[in-house]
Amino acid sequence: MATSLEPVTKVSDELKALLNDAIAREIQVSVQYMWQHVQVVGVKAVAVADQFKSTAISEMKHAEKIAERLWYLGATPTTKPAPIVVGTSLQEFLEFDVKAEVEAVEMYRKIIKLATEEGDITTAFMFKEILEDEESHHDLFTTMLEEV
Ligand SMILES: [Fe+2]
Ligand SMILES: [Fe+2]
Repeated sequence: MATSLEPVTKVSDELKALLNDAIAREIQVSVQYMWQHVQVVGVKAVAVADQFKSTAISEMKHAEKIAERLWYLGATPTTKPAPIVVGTSLQEFLEFDVKAEVEAVEMYRKIIKLATEEGDITTAFMFKEILEDEESHHDLFTTMLEEV
């Protein structure tokens, strides 16, 4: 019989490791977009700074949500971000950001698939919601890049 300390849903170490990879990249992009918000200059800065800020906040919320889930599943969330790449011009910021969002979409599709296979419907559902946000971030940064 399970003790009260064990979660009712049990997942593989592979899925837990993937959730930690997801947290690392959420911390990465949260800082990345925040620093871009701070560093963006020039005539277009007024129009785009708020987009970086609001997206950074969205990513921070993702990090927290995934960390809560991972903690529930019995693993400790990482504090280390994946490599942060800010860039030196608006064009470069956005190229890095589009790339980061593509990586997120690919990673989260993989997590949804594995979580579903393991019967962890809650994690799969959570990542479907997060995936929807990442697709809209990708759409936003792609549109912004076209305007640079
Ligand atoms: Fe995110
Ligand atoms: Fe995102």
